[in-house]
Amino acid sequence: MKPAVARILLTGATGGIGREAAGAFLRAGARLMLTGRSPQSLAALARELRDRHGLAEQDLPWVVADLREPRELERLAEHAAGWQCNVLVHAAGAPAFGALHAIDAATMAAVMQTNLIAPMQLTRAMLPSLRRQPGAQVLFVGSVLGAIGLPGYSVYSASKFGLRGFAEALRRELADTEVKVQYLGPRSTQTAFNGADVQAYNQATGTAMDSAASVAAALLRMLEDEEAERFLGFPERLGVRLNGLVPTAMDGSFRRHGRSLATLATLPERTGS
Ligand SMILES: NC(=O)c1ccc[n+]([C@@H]2O[C@H](COP(=O)([O-])OP(=O)(O)OC[C@H]3O[C@@H](n4cnc5c(N)ncnc54)[C@H](OP(=O)(O)O)[C@@H]3O)[C@@H](O)[C@H]2O)c1
Repeated sequence: MKPAVARILLTGATGGIGREAAGAFLRAGARLMLTGRSPQSLAALARELRDRHGLAEQDLPWVVADLREPRELERLAEHAAGWQCNVLVHAAGAPAFGALHAIDAATMAAVMQTNLIAPMQLTRAMLPSLRRQPGAQVLFVGSVLGAIGLPGYSVYSASKFGLRGFAEALRRELADTEVKVQYLGPRSTQTAFNGADVQAYNQATGTAMDSAASVAAALLRMLEDEEAERFLGFPERLGVRLNGLVPTAMDGSFRRHGRSLATLATLPERTGS
């Protein structure tokens, strides 16, 4: 849709990608409702954005919500529906990097809850009101790792593969409605999401990282052109296609990643995240 008519609920607004996306959406003329867990971070971000974009207090509402808490998620959905939200952008997410044995059960549950269960529940809670909005959009920030599984990302990939499956099925389920469902798969991006361990792994494997601003620009493009699915970066886009066609054919290409992970695991200060 045209940004000028978009009323966007942005989860993960306080994150590296979320902040850039908030700026890009506002510059394009969209209205925004911000959400995250920290009232301090949200208040500071809202103040900064209002100052930069010349907005009044009521023009940039924010709601504190931990998306892993069902009651807070429901309350957020009610606020957004009452505000006539017509675009839901899921940018909240939690990382998990490391060999499987280094990722404990609590981290696994938190990652699945944040990256998969919460977006599904928030979408479900918002759907009745979104269906009343002409041309509503639900835009998931997934990952290239939601289409290609790499050593070190078993748990994270499980959450993002799940999210991609959810988005694809829901897109088809809602094909005869006003609601469009979209999935953006960024590659590795320079934010606090990635610790020193990921940066060392990326360096060792020759993995490029994008800026958060370029991911935000892609989100804005997807709002405008309503494309169903887009992956960022080359060779990642090609990799997604090949992996989709013949997944085992790419196993050999990622042996180096497995060796890099094993090397990192011998350096105690760099294991897990
Ligand atoms: N960075 C990358 O390399 C990369 C690559 C591809 C895809 N992605 C995806 O892009 C999205 C944004 O990533 P990022 O790099 O911007 O990460 P980030 O800087 O770590 O930000 C994460 C955001 O998620 C929010 N969040 C986390 N857990 C939450 C919860 N339980 N309830 C509510 N909000 C919660 C955080 O809010 P608080 O202020 O409450 O902490 C923060 O705003 C994620 O979905 C991630 O999986 C990232």
